[in-house]
Amino acid sequence: MKINMPVTDKEVLLTKDTFLVTRTNLKGVITYANDAFVETSGFSREELIGSAHNIVRHPDMPPAAFEDMWSCLKKGLPWKGMVKNRTKSGDYYWVEANVVPVYTNGQLQEYLSVRYPPKREKIDEAEQFYQKLNANKVSMRPTGWAAIKKQFCEIALWKKFTLIGLLFLIPNSYLLVKLLSEQDYLLSSIFALSLLLSGFLAVNLYRLIHATLETIIGVSYRFLNHNFKANVDLDRTDQIGDCYRAIYSVGTLFNADLALEHEVEKHLNEQNRINIDFVSQVAAIRKSQPVIEFNMDGTIIDANDLFLETMGYTLDEIKGKHHRLFAEPIYGQSAEYKHFFGNA
Ligand SMILES: Cc1cc2nc3c(=O)[nH]c(=O)nc-3n(C[C@H](O)[C@H](O)[C@H](O)COP(=O)(O)O)c2cc1C
Repeated sequence: MKINMPVTDKEVLLTKDTFLVTRTNLKGVITYANDAFVETSGFSREELIGSAHNIVRHPDMPPAAFEDMWSCLKKGLPWKGMVKNRTKSGDYYWVEANVVPVYTNGQLQEYLSVRYPPKREKIDEAEQFYQKLNANKVSMRPTGWAAIKKQFCEIALWKKFTLIGLLFLIPNSYLLVKLLSEQDYLLSSIFALSLLLSGFLAVNLYRLIHATLETIIGVSYRFLNHNFKANVDLDRTDQIGDCYRAIYSVGTLFNADLALEHEVEKHLNEQNRINIDFVSQVAAIRKSQPVIEFNMDGTIIDANDLFLETMGYTLDEIKGKHHRLFAEPIYGQSAEYKHFFGNA
């Protein structure tokens, strides 16, 4: 555990629309930080890139919180939680952190964290919770009865449906047998029919929920791999249709943003190529031809070796002098020459 000292009790308040982004390799070494993160942290970009992320660790943060974060990430799961970070000068700021594993072609490549400024109530809550966590009075995940309740609530869908089915079928089958034994055939038939119908509806409902969840999970993961073909039924008029339309719209926007980003990158690369070409051309000219540089009023700024050799001067002898030094005396006094250098 890294203990970064000293710390102050001065809080850095983040503005509402700030969002702080970093990327790390699989060992938690920072590979990217956005401007807002760099500025807030107080470190320079050079200090951050290549450093372990615990460079911003605040000593108040419980080790258990980071253990929980890493245990999620190592299982390929996202982590969400409150984090108190330390700035280079020792001040602190709170963020609501979302850390996700990033996959490319199904391979875990890196981790990404996007942080937002939390509401004051959430900060107060986290402060109290982390104090208790540091004192071993609570744990990050529910334990005891709360853990059992959570586990029960989260059992697989098919198990839930099986349980409901059994709870429904066992007493009702008993009732049906009882009705038959009393030879009430009309009521028994109605009862049996309603049992069959309920079973049929329950199986269909299970299939629908299962298929919808699988579709949404599949489409979301395809989006993460930049595959935006979302084969979902946009014409459904129910809430499942609403769900499909929402995820479809997110994918379309994400796709458009990415396309725009690629376009900007392409333009920048093209511009870079043009700049490099230009710089190489200038370098080639400087090597092969005598070159002199002067500013707008004709004052000499620089000249290359070829020029100095040809003219028989050293750079110190001509730097700061006027270009007129190299012009024919008559031409140097001409109106055309004066006009060229703004009457200098
Ligand atoms: C993507 C990513 C972002 C992280 N962001 C932070 C952060 O903002 N602050 C922090 O203290 N730790 C952050 N961590 C966790 C650190 O890697 C580290 O586990 C933590 O600072 C505890 O470090 P230590 O136990 O080595 O002292 C991040 C990790 C990852 C993978």
